[in-house]
Amino acid sequence: MKKFSKIIIANWKMQMDSEESIALAVKLVKLLAKNNIGKKEIVVCPSFLALSEVAKILKPSRISLGAQDTFYQEEGAFTGEVSPENLKEIGCQYVIVGHSERRAMGETDKLINKKFLAVLKEKMLPIICVGETLAERKSGQSEKVILRQINKATLGISKNQNFILAYEPVWSISTSNSGQVISVLEASKMISLIKINLSKKFTNFSLIYGGSVDKKSIVNFAKIKGVKGFLVGGASLKAKSFVELIKNL
Ligand code: PGA
Repeated sequence: MKKFSKIIIANWKMQMDSEESIALAVKLVKLLAKNNIGKKEIVVCPSFLALSEVAKILKPSRISLGAQDTFYQEEGAFTGEVSPENLKEIGCQYVIVGHSERRAMGETDKLINKKFLAVLKEKMLPIICVGETLAERKSGQSEKVILRQINKATLGISKNQNFILAYEPVWSISTSNSGQVISVLEASKMISLIKINLSKKFTNFSLIYGGSVDKKSIVNFAKIKGVKGFLVGGASLKAKSFVELIKNL
């Protein structure tokens, strides 16, 4: 497993078609080759459809490939699903699991746990996402929700297992235009709660933050103690400003 000082993961979601994804990957590879970004680990997670083409472009570069989701079975009659084995074959080293946009579509803690285990079986690095919704925050449930999501997602995971856990407050995702973004102080409190909780059971995890991170806000979010990197959606879709974001970390 790769060692990294900092990690930045680009989540391209369903924002581009294959052609656009290929064009962005080409630009990113070129720009990153020209800029000194030290030992920072950069991961790009395109849509399933664009994975194999983007994989070819990233292969000779320093950028790693990730998937936005996976199924947990190795093969079989599972219409519409993609197995961790296939993702590995295509060159994925990372897989996002339990993103809030998937939880909102009905993914349960139990399913997320199965996917977590399946990704580990293929020796890829899972990026497990947790985060409270606005309603949960308003009703004072944030901590309870996060701890439940963590405890259920990590069932059966061994103590020294390597994984990434992303804290992404749902109400702070893609909200930079509306100004509804978590403060560094509040994010720090949640990250510290998560760290204390995870440290009781695990020795080898990295904590990252996600939610409206852009090339400006990353400077402040980087001050959160214990944060090893970022999961970036919207601000990862333009090569030039994404590279600036990387350089600002
Ligand atoms: P955002 O998305 O950076 O656009 O808020 C982050 C995410 O959903 O992972």
